[in-house]
Amino acid sequence: MRATTLGSTGPETGVIGLGCMGMTFSYDMQTPRDDATSIAVIHRALDLGMTLIDTADAYGPYTNEELVGRALAGGHRDRAVLATKVGLLTDSVEDVKPGGNAPGAGRDGRPEHVRASIDGSLRRLGTDHVDLYQLHRVDPRVPLEETWGAMAETVAAGKARHIGLSEVTVAEIRRAQAVHPVTSVQSELSLWTRDALADVLPYCQEQGIAFLPFAPLGRGFLTGRFASAADLPRDDFRRGLPRFQRDALRANQAIAGQVRQIAGRAGATPARVALAWVLAQGRHVVPIPGTKTPRYLEDNAGAAGCELSAADLAGLDALPAPQGARY
Ligand SMILES: NC(=O)c1ccc[n+]([C@@H]2O[C@H](COP(=O)([O-])OP(=O)(O)OC[C@H]3O[C@@H](n4cnc5c(N)ncnc54)[C@H](OP(=O)(O)O)[C@@H]3O)[C@@H](O)[C@H]2O)c1
Repeated sequence: MRATTLGSTGPETGVIGLGCMGMTFSYDMQTPRDDATSIAVIHRALDLGMTLIDTADAYGPYTNEELVGRALAGGHRDRAVLATKVGLLTDSVEDVKPGGNAPGAGRDGRPEHVRASIDGSLRRLGTDHVDLYQLHRVDPRVPLEETWGAMAETVAAGKARHIGLSEVTVAEIRRAQAVHPVTSVQSELSLWTRDALADVLPYCQEQGIAFLPFAPLGRGFLTGRFASAADLPRDDFRRGLPRFQRDALRANQAIAGQVRQIAGRAGATPARVALAWVLAQGRHVVPIPGTKTPRYLEDNAGAAGCELSAADLAGLDALPAPQGARY
């Protein structure tokens, strides 16, 4: 796979990485976990050059880092650009509670939390440093400068090589930059979630900050897999998301249908087209599609070589907005 660097100062990675969240958390919690297959997926990703491996202490909690740690044991650690996160507390699955959260609920940006958490992450990951330590969410109750200062301490201590932010505004990136360089920003970006294109993504490009789109496949929707809510596993986080509610999901089929059509014309799969569009948004963009399925991983890896014509890109740019908020 083509390589790139994470921003102007970060390490070299493949242009597409691997999100590990769904291997132990959030999606399909009823089917028993298949750790052997997940570990094989991580190894295959490294073989294919998808070296950015993304996890978080919140996923599980902790089970995802433990799984990634097991996958990287036995000589694989140095092949990976290992990224984890701190600052989101998992009893609030991805920060969402029915009826909305109190400000800051489910977040912990206190410096003492950051300092204590890095050691737990390193222990579970079986390593003495991570390549990228990301602040999962800004805690509105703690000045960002204080949280980011503690993130910077993890770099000074040699426990993290670089630090990044997630789901932030340009103003928040600027505040962090005044304290310590920001290597990456991880936020949702896909054909049906384009908010970052307005300001955060161009700001990152201008500043030499890598932009890591999460959920670049629209949590699987853009691949055409979910025609109705019944296609989602019963105990699945997506069942609670507005865009996956019955009427919204039905309306949103128009988007999946057009992606499928363009994929047919381009001789690619819908997943490749969705990822190729994300990659086309800038050379600083490194998407982290999530999968625990070997054939999906191979599919996603192929997106790095998927060239979309100007007409196809224009068709994708013109897709209708989705029905339903993202959370
Ligand atoms: N920073 C944050 O706040 C945040 C939030 C959410 C996610 N993330 C990170 O971003 C990563 C990716 O996001 P995501 O996993 O939520 O969403 P995603 O990458 O948009 O979609 C994942 C879903 O798509 C399916 N899939 C993957 N490749 C496919 C293919 N080629 N064909 C058909 N289906 C395919 C997966 O199935 P299987 O799992 O069954 O293989 C899974 O259900 C996560 O793993 C996590 O590391 C970060």
